[in-house]
Amino acid sequence: MGTIKCIGILTSGGDAPGMNAAIRAVTRSAIYNGLQVKGIYRGYKGLVTGEIQEFKTQNVSNIIQLGGTILKTARCKEFKTPEGRKAAYENMQKEGIDALVVIGGDGSLTGARILAQEFDVPCIGLPGTIDNDLYGTDTTIGYDTALNTILDAVDKIRDTATSHERLFFVEVMGRDAGFLALNGAIAAGAEAAIIPEFNTEVDQLEEFIKNGFRKSKSSSIVLVAESEITGGAMHYAERVKNEYPQYDVRVTILGHLQRGGRPTAHDRIIASRMGVASIQALLEGQRNVMIGIENDKIVYVPFTKAIKNDKPIDRELVNVLKELSI
Ligand code: ADP
Ligand code: F6P
Repeated sequence: MGTIKCIGILTSGGDAPGMNAAIRAVTRSAIYNGLQVKGIYRGYKGLVTGEIQEFKTQNVSNIIQLGGTILKTARCKEFKTPEGRKAAYENMQKEGIDALVVIGGDGSLTGARILAQEFDVPCIGLPGTIDNDLYGTDTTIGYDTALNTILDAVDKIRDTATSHERLFFVEVMGRDAGFLALNGAIAAGAEAAIIPEFNTEVDQLEEFIKNGFRKSKSSSIVLVAESEITGGAMHYAERVKNEYPQYDVRVTILGHLQRGGRPTAHDRIIASRMGVASIQALLEGQRNVMIGIENDKIVYVPFTKAIKNDKPIDRELVNVLKELSI
């Protein structure tokens, strides 16, 4: 493996607030350390088709405060095939890119792991997803902003829920992970969270009704993680209509508004720290790791560990929500 002179950077999968702060940090830190930087557009798609541009420090000026990603993002089917990855590798060679920094969720990091394995390319991953579902890091870029967006929405829904004495199911994102729903429920003072992790363990609707709905309150808000496993908010609203017709039930699906907006201070800081750490990692000879933050310290998490292990839900959080929702 020769020395690294030029890095490529891309954002892939679902966008997340703070991706721009990460692009800025990776670019500036690379240039600071004497490396050349190439921006790859539209995730792996741009690597396969050669949509690549040299990035100077001014290419990343004025973006730290912006949601979305200036590099654009995409989901790329071709990259899932050996032919697609070969084309991507050939474009890397053509552009003189010696190493890749990939900002994305577990699908994007899986792609990086496979490319690294097949072509011996050094790859570093940054966890960029609102879902917070990557193992080995306490938090992911975009998660804090999405949580705050959920709070803004639920605070507003609470006004109408209280006035009409209604039961609201608010569906939040998470792609089969309950972090946004559970922590969103705690922070919003909601009565319950229905999450995929506990779907087979208990009937979460029955638990919620049994634990006190309508004992001390005339309205209620339940956050439901969007997932085929839970069936989502509509499924629970239907169940209430059939099983507890005395309750006046409504559904709000927050959808993609959770992916947008100005990143919070927390997301800008972790994106900046992780971006700088990705260049440090490459210079130290680290390969095929995701940069994480655990107990406020940067850690290197091997791709296999970050992707393959399911990040566990902290039972203490479940208990906090239960005790405080009486
Ligand atoms: P996220 O990174 O947000 O989890 P996806 O799961 O949609 O998003 O993955 C983003 C992209 O990563 C995919 O469109 C594909 O290009 C690449 N990718 C995902 N899984 C694989 C895989 N098994 N092999 C190769 N590339 C993959
Ligand atoms: O992974 C981020 C995420 O927003 C998930 O929470 C959600 O399930 C999914 O992406 C939605 O994807 P799409 O952009 O295809 O609608």
